[in-house]
Amino acid sequence: MARNRDSWGSRLGIIMAVAGSAVGLGNFLRFPAKAAANGGGAFLIPYFVALLLLGIPLMWIEWTLGRFGGGFGHSTAPGIFHSIRQKNRFIKYFGIIGIFGPLVIFIYYCYVEAWTLAYGFFAVTGKYAGIADQAGMRSFLAAFQGLEKNSHFNGISTAYIFFLITFILNIWVIYHGIKGGIERLCKWAMPLLFICGVVLLCRVLTLGAPDLARPDWNVANGFGFLWNPDFSALANPKVWLEAAGQIFFTLSVGIGVILTYSSYLSKGDDVVLSGLTSVSTNELAEVVLGGSIVIPAAFVFFGPDQMKEIVSGGLFNLGFVTIPLVLNKLPLANIMGFIWFSLLFLAAVTSSVSLIQPAVAFLGDEFNLGRKKAVWAFAAVTFVLCQAPIFFLKNGVVDELDFWGGTFFLVVFAAIETVLFVWVFGMEKAWDEIHQGADMRVPQAYKWIIKFVTPAFLLFILGGWFFDKEGFWAMILMKNVSGPDKPYVLGARVGIFVMLGVLALLVKLAWKKTTGWIFIVLSWGFIWGLLVFCFARVFSKKEMK
Ligand code: ALA
Repeated sequence: MARNRDSWGSRLGIIMAVAGSAVGLGNFLRFPAKAAANGGGAFLIPYFVALLLLGIPLMWIEWTLGRFGGGFGHSTAPGIFHSIRQKNRFIKYFGIIGIFGPLVIFIYYCYVEAWTLAYGFFAVTGKYAGIADQAGMRSFLAAFQGLEKNSHFNGISTAYIFFLITFILNIWVIYHGIKGGIERLCKWAMPLLFICGVVLLCRVLTLGAPDLARPDWNVANGFGFLWNPDFSALANPKVWLEAAGQIFFTLSVGIGVILTYSSYLSKGDDVVLSGLTSVSTNELAEVVLGGSIVIPAAFVFFGPDQMKEIVSGGLFNLGFVTIPLVLNKLPLANIMGFIWFSLLFLAAVTSSVSLIQPAVAFLGDEFNLGRKKAVWAFAAVTFVLCQAPIFFLKNGVVDELDFWGGTFFLVVFAAIETVLFVWVFGMEKAWDEIHQGADMRVPQAYKWIIKFVTPAFLLFILGGWFFDKEGFWAMILMKNVSGPDKPYVLGARVGIFVMLGVLALLVKLAWKKTTGWIFIVLSWGFIWGLLVFCFARVFSKKEMK
């Protein structure tokens, strides 16, 4: 077990770091798109129900379990779960998901983050300034991603350079530790992010109706397009699942990162008020800023009919095609574009560093590697893994990683945490533990909510998926993947499950006290070795039989 554990420098530091992990691309792109597609204002009903019954309880569970496990010198889920019931030899294996999830998300998130950095640069240098329509902006994005060649880019090299910068930046932050790296970054990045958000919000509110021939295409109607409620949507269980999914994604609960962040607290540090403060910071960024920028701004320029198509066109389309076009039509387009992509980049980088920390902390704590060696081991392995979403983007690899790492296992992990907290740790002990050093009391009703309602809600989500033939089963059975892409998606899936296996092996080695970094290098090397092998095999077979 590591002797000199990292710690936070201040209470504001950890609140900013948890909020930084939560506020991400999900707030500014995913949330407005989901709301617009799922009942508008009516979406806020299941959204807030999920926030109160799922998000806030899970936030408190994770802050409490993390601080508890940190008292035993553990910063990641395997050790934290082991601390709950030390006599049980199996409990720690459930914790591998809490390292696996962030790792899988990081593999593609880092690349998307690199696009925001690149586009910020393109905005100031005016690289896409002359593009005036959706088709033009789409082909700019496609060429940048290496999906087509045209006059804008002649291959993937520009995107790759920005990926390298982003990757190195993330590793550099983690290399400097909790206080010197993550806390320092989040303490300046979060206020800056809010400043960018407020500037854009003011710009959107003052847009009026720029097209004199179409006075209805105004900002008030833009807000109406997003927020006028369609209550009939509430009868559809999928809308409730989407709302719950958004809560998971936006708060970064069920991933494992909050457990790790809170493990660096001391026993007497408050978790109740701090947890709630980070939730409210995230909600301000999501509902107020996220809900007021992209959709109303796009409405003013594209009108109600095109908006439907834009909303269903996916998040990347909204962030990297529609909004740059909108900003291109405004005065000071370069600066506004730069502010928009800076907002996304700051939101993304404060989330991506949180995704790295669990794996690094696991290696550091459980193998006595020390932070710096752990960071190098992490960098070596993930650098290889990150190549998959870069080079196989068009083959559906990002969707596959996002499904397992960013959707399915979040709910499974949240269910495991809740069961452990309520039934293994025991609700009475858990309630006392939450209130250690607390600056406010959790309303008594939450004792009942955490014990019964949160687990029932999680069961509802898992059950809902089980009956969802077009969404869940279509994904599992690769129904929406084209024949030529199937080998790539299958390769990614094999890689993902190999990663789970390797993590289980590492947990076994760690508890056998088989220390020594050679094991790490060998076993983690095994991951990418097998991955490369799988991809090499699937390359040689064009179609599935
Ligand atoms: N919580 C992060 C986001 O919303 C992952 O993007």
